[in-house]
Formats: sequence, structure tokens, C-alpha cells
Amino acid sequence: MRWISFVGLGPVGLCTAVCFAAKGYKVTASEIDKTKAIQIKRGKPPFYEQNLKEMLQETINNENLKIVTSNEEAVLQSDVTLITVGTPTKQDGNMNLTYVINASKDIGKALKKKEETQFIAVKSTVTPGTTLNVVKPTLEKYSGKKCGKDFLLCFNPEFLSEGNAIRGTLNPDYIAIGGYNQKSTETLENLYKEFHKENLPPIIKTNIPTAELIKYANNAFLATKISLINTIANICEKTPGADVTKVAEAIGNDHRINPYFLEAGLGWGGSCFPKDLKAFIAYSKKLGYNPTLIQATIETNQNQIKFTMQKIKQELKTIKGKRIAVLGLAFKPNTDDVREARSIKIISQLLTQGATITAYDPMATSNTKKILNQKIRYASSAIECLKNADCAILVTEWEEFKKLKSEDFIQSMRQPILIDGRRLYNPREFKKLRYITIGLGKPLEPQL
Ligand code: UGA
Repeated sequence: MRWISFVGLGPVGLCTAVCFAAKGYKVTASEIDKTKAIQIKRGKPPFYEQNLKEMLQETINNENLKIVTSNEEAVLQSDVTLITVGTPTKQDGNMNLTYVINASKDIGKALKKKEETQFIAVKSTVTPGTTLNVVKPTLEKYSGKKCGKDFLLCFNPEFLSEGNAIRGTLNPDYIAIGGYNQKSTETLENLYKEFHKENLPPIIKTNIPTAELIKYANNAFLATKISLINTIANICEKTPGADVTKVAEAIGNDHRINPYFLEAGLGWGGSCFPKDLKAFIAYSKKLGYNPTLIQATIETNQNQIKFTMQKIKQELKTIKGKRIAVLGLAFKPNTDDVREARSIKIISQLLTQGATITAYDPMATSNTKKILNQKIRYASSAIECLKNADCAILVTEWEEFKKLKSEDFIQSMRQPILIDGRRLYNPREFKKLRYITIGLGKPLEPQL
């Protein structure tokens, strides 16, 4: 078994490191943010992810996982290094490669001190060309060594999704490996064969730029799929009798479409789709190609907020002075992440228009406070959130919200108006209150 190091302990780095350590690998993971590293060392993940805390504590206790604050130290203790640092977007949509470059410099410096051949894989999402034109030369410059001869290099995209990261790491749909040369590809392939054993998913082997592109293609496809079902939802709303949920259920049976990512609603957020789509567009434009479909995917997503605001306005006539309850702050259920969350965008617009907001989320309150501070009130339960509200908006489809009955809204609210932004409830069961949702046309006149 190989000794593995991780450089960067965000969601991808930490979840993957913990999974390797749980399978018995010796893992040294480095995080240069000292406060974060100390927290992780104490068995406290800096973000919520199902099963992560237990696995982190177990692997720290059995010493399979060691947390350090020096990238060089991590590399020196291992023969395989996975780069898992963040690649945030800059104002112009381009990627900020600072963390990738700094990680590559540190790894290069460590390689200089090593005799054995190190294997390095970039897992951070980077636009095509970055691994060969930025990572490789930096590694070579700081190590004084030659890629393919003295060290091996791959790009290996990451497809794990928040809220499902551990399961996704242990059981991915597929693995893509972009290798610098055959030996690089084989090294990573063998590592995954050993890791997954009889559950080995399909492995796509290719060159580095293609693997870099696969990551963007995957995210662009998923985001476009959601924007497409939202487009259909908007047409359904204008078609008496039409219901997008039935349309999605039906077309999902076509194996060429499949039933996943066809949930119409307020649209997509999170730390990945918005950033990756912007970077992909900026990258394409640099090549002289304008990817209009991806632009439309983003525009469609932005419009979902606009249309929801119109619905609220139509119901309340004026937003100023109204008390609005927001159910759900996280960008999706089972996470405490509020980056690019739809909740923040809607709340900001409502605040600008003079509404008073009370919000409730089972997990994301503390992260929301970092952005919205005391501009809104935070409730400690859904029922408390609904108290005396003039309108409620369901933004995140948390499991616990599914249990709310129409009576809960009627009894708690000043005016029982519910905008269901995620098609969570059955409209037939919510007839006693003013229920407005996404993708549902006006009821058909009963046929005589
Ligand atoms: C996404 C991809 O799904 C992962 O494969 C990828 O590895 C990751 O980005 C990344 O690049 O790191 P994630 O952002 O964690 O993962 O979340 P998703 O489950 O993809 O959801 C994204 C957004 O789409 C959420 O706001 C969610 O509410 C929304 N969504 C999802 C819908 O509106 N409708 C759907 O049917 C599905």
C-alpha cells in the first residue's frame, strides 16, 4: 500500500483523505490555514458532511490520518500526492490559481529533497491546459526534476457532491484519469484498483487536457439539465393544467435522459456550478468561442430568482414592511454550505425592498450569520420561523420540512401564503392555504 499525501483540506481534500485513511492507507494531509488544521486535528471537520466527523475521529485516533500544516512535510512523508486546493473565481470569471501555484511550488521543493519517484495528481478543478502549462513547469522549476522521468503527473477530476461526499468517494459513477504518460496513468489506475477492489467503477483513461475538460463538461451538463427543466417549469406555469413534476417523471424514463437532476425549482447554487460555469465561459471566450448555451444556462438560473420575486410581489402587492419567513438557507439539503445559495440572493433582494426576514435552517444558520449578520432574525424551528409571517418561502428541501402540514402554516402565519420554491409539497394537500409553486399551471376547468 502506498503512503498518500493531500495538499489542501477543503471538502474534496478532507473527505477523500478520510476515505483513504479509513481503508487502511497511511495518509498525511496538509492544511496551511493553522486554525483550520488544529480544528481538523481535534476531530472537528470545518464543514458538515454525513459520516465525516466519525470517520475523521476514527482515522486520527488509529493514526492512519496525520494532519500537518506544511505541504512540504506532507509530500516528504508520502509517495503519492493529491492536490486538492481550491480554485476560486476572480471578478472576471477566470480562475484564481494562487493556491494551485503555491501548492505546486511546495511540492516541487519537497521533490528536490526526495530520491524516489513521486506520483502527483491534480484533483482541483482547473481549466484545460493548467496542469501542463502551470502545474508541471512549477513542479519542474522548484524540484529541478523532469516530469515523466523523475516524477509522474496526472489530472484526476473530482465528482463528489456535497452532502453525499463520503458515499461519492467510496462509490463514484466513474473515474477519469488524464495521464502525462502511460506510467503516470497506470500508477493512478492501480491505486484506484486497490482502493475500490471488486467495486471498481469504469475508468476513463485519456490525456491531461481532455480530463480537465471532462470535469467542466460534467458540471456544465448537470447545470444545463436543471436550467432546462426550470425552463419547462416556466412554460408549464403558463399552460393551464400542466405540471412539471409529471413531465420530469415521464421524460426521466427515457434512459437517454434519466430521472436525476430534473427537479425544477429556484435553481442551482453552491460553490461549484456557478464558479465552474463562469470559468468555462471565460476559458472558451479566450479561445475565441462564445458558448451561448452555457450563458443561457446561467441566465435561466438567475431568472428563477427574478420570477420568484415576481410571485412574492404579486401575492403581497408591496413587500415593504412585510414579514417574510424563509425556510432553508443551505444551497441544498444535508449541508451547512451557503455559498451562492439561492436563499442569500432572495433574502438580499427582499431586504432591499424593505421586508423583515425570519429564517430557519437545520444546519446553515451559523454560516449565514457570517454573510447576513443580524440583518435578519434566525429562528430555532420551522414553526417559530413561520410565526406571524405574511408569506413563507421554502428555499431548501430539507427532509424535516416535508413533515410540515398545511395546518402548521395556517396556524402560525398571519397570512398563510406559501411559495414552495422546490416543489416539496403536494398541491392537493395544501389547498386550504394560498399555495404557489414552480412549474404548475392554473387548474383546468372541470370537464362536464
Ligand atoms: C456539483 C456536482 O454535482 C458534483 O458532481 C461536482 O463534483 C461538484 O459540483 C463540484 O464541482 O465540486 P454540488 O455543488 O455539491 O456538486 O451539488 P449538486 O448536488 O450538484 O447541486 C447543485 C445545485 O443544484 C444545488 O443548489 C441543488 O439544489 C440544485 N439542483 C440539483 C436543482 O435545483 N435541481 C436538481 O434536480 C438537482
